[in-house]
Amino acid sequence: MIRQCHDLDFDTIYLIINEAAIKYKGAIPDDRWKVPYMSKDELRQQIDEGVAFWGYEEDSKLIGVMGIQHVRDVTLIRHAYVRPERQNQGIGKELLLALCRQTKHPLLIGTWANAVWAIRFYEQHGFKVVPQEEKDRLLEKYWLIPERQVETSVVLADQKWFDLY
Ligand SMILES: CC(C)(COP(=O)(O)OP(=O)(O)OC[C@H]1O[C@@H](n2cnc3c(N)ncnc32)[C@H](O)[C@@H]1OP(=O)(O)O)[C@@H](O)C(=O)NCCC(=O)NCCS
Repeated sequence: MIRQCHDLDFDTIYLIINEAAIKYKGAIPDDRWKVPYMSKDELRQQIDEGVAFWGYEEDSKLIGVMGIQHVRDVTLIRHAYVRPERQNQGIGKELLLALCRQTKHPLLIGTWANAVWAIRFYEQHGFKVVPQEEKDRLLEKYWLIPERQVETSVVLADQKWFDLY
């Protein structure tokens, strides 16, 4: 079942993000890796800035989470994480499709340039990497992230975005 997450899910979201983010270790630049990958303060800030988390639940237990954030004329998919032992079983796909259905705006996704598995996952669902100069502009316009993260990220967009821009 896919459902919106609530305040009571906060600690579980935090755990899932940080368990799943282990995948980044050794893949993303060393200066971007830390433990926990996302602190509770950072997670709270993301939610306060408008990221709404949705979760994939099984037997009353959250297995994966994904955030959606509406920013001006686009919708961002943020923070996609599935418990490590349940990855590659289609849960991310279910979450992504459920979130994509929630908006009529063009969709954008930012991820680490070295997270090749994540890029492939989004490409399988129709997203395409935007050109480098466009990426920098989009990250500055729609995301609140440090300069170093801009340098080491890619942005993927759906067909609607490519048709409009
Ligand atoms: C990226 C992530 C959210 C995707 O979620 P997921 O549940 O693993 O995704 P899915 O299972 O839907 O798809 C992943 C792969 O599994 C494959 N798959 C799906 N169902 C499958 C099944 N039943 N058996 C075998 N493989 C399967 C898909 O074909 C897909 O392969 P592809 O990437 O080569 O296309 C998850 O793997 C994750 O948390 N990764 C670590 C953190 C991360 O990188 N997050 C991205 C942040 S932007």
